[in-house]
Amino acid sequence: MRIVEVGPRDGLQNETATVPTAAKIAFVDALSQSGVAEIEVSAFVSPRWVPQLSDASEVFQGITRYNGVLYSALVPNRKGLDRAFAAEVDKVSVFTAASETFNQKNINTSIAGALQRFRPITAAAGEAGLPVRGYVSTAFWCAFEGKIAPRAVVRVVEQLMDIGIAEVAISDTIGKATPDEVRRLLDLLIPRMAADRIAVHFHDTYGRGVENMLAAWPYGIRTVDASAGGLGGCPYAPGASGNVATGDVVAALEAHGVNTGVNRRQLDRALEHLAPYRTDDRRKLPPDGSPLCAACPHSTGENCCGRYQNPF
Ligand code: HMG
Ligand code: MG
Repeated sequence: MRIVEVGPRDGLQNETATVPTAAKIAFVDALSQSGVAEIEVSAFVSPRWVPQLSDASEVFQGITRYNGVLYSALVPNRKGLDRAFAAEVDKVSVFTAASETFNQKNINTSIAGALQRFRPITAAAGEAGLPVRGYVSTAFWCAFEGKIAPRAVVRVVEQLMDIGIAEVAISDTIGKATPDEVRRLLDLLIPRMAADRIAVHFHDTYGRGVENMLAAWPYGIRTVDASAGGLGGCPYAPGASGNVATGDVVAALEAHGVNTGVNRRQLDRALEHLAPYRTDDRRKLPPDGSPLCAACPHSTGENCCGRYQNPF
């Protein structure tokens, strides 16, 4: 299984705390030594939309490139591609969705508009010899539209293939998919697209990321996204929690006799570079009877998700 470590992008885009550029660079450098095949380092998106990743160019400039590791980034438009070229990325990823509402909220255009925007990106990246990944978000569920029909996902995948995408990442943005839903989609998709061009990207909101990844394995899917420590989410998908944790994916695969070549201790070492900046410390339950906790619309009564501005 090829493990794509998306923590530096999907994880850090969702941290409320500001992580200094130097810490991001140290995080990526440590991940480079963990044995993962690919690292999604950052995103060349609008800094107005995702200020957490506005230092994407500086991060790329500061990291050490290790042989055998591919360094990729998200690009939403031509401007992002030009910034990615200047940063000498190895691979770029465009991103759209199977849900119109989420697409609009995330990249401010329709699905058709996104595909039109991506066409010159795949052409220019192709000329430069860069592979392009295409994410299909909300491939199972959407926070705004609910259940998404597998046929709608296949339609977007086919359109991405038509414009020259090398790989698609089937993405469970809000982490609500079940293994049966994964199988239903892959039953429809696999006859239309080779398994070695499909990656799976599961968020772990309901703790089903590992199960879902294992459900994809018999279909020949051999690329999985994960983030160290389960960092992550999407700022434009309410309720989206972190990606499935890289260590959990590695442990599950190893339990099934699959050697990933990824060293879990090194993943922990990488996370240490972020520890001083993560908001987890503020995610302890506030004192008993706190009016803030009582008012928080996200409270489960068990822990604090940190999404309600509180001073603890
Ligand atoms: P817009 O506001 O329609 O675009 O945003 P615009 O062209 O009007 O630009 C607005 C401003 O941003 C302008 O600046 C542009 O120059 C600037 P101003 O003139 O106002 O100062 N700008 C840029 N700056 C730097 N780099 C760029 C860039 N583009 C514009 N590339 C846009 C449209 C697509 C840009 C915006 O909606 C955007 O950046 N969205 C990104 C949102 C995002 O990153 N979401 C999270 C990633 S997706 C995700 O997490 C899901 C995934 O993990 C899979 C899954 O789990 O489902 C991949
Ligand atoms: Mg994601």
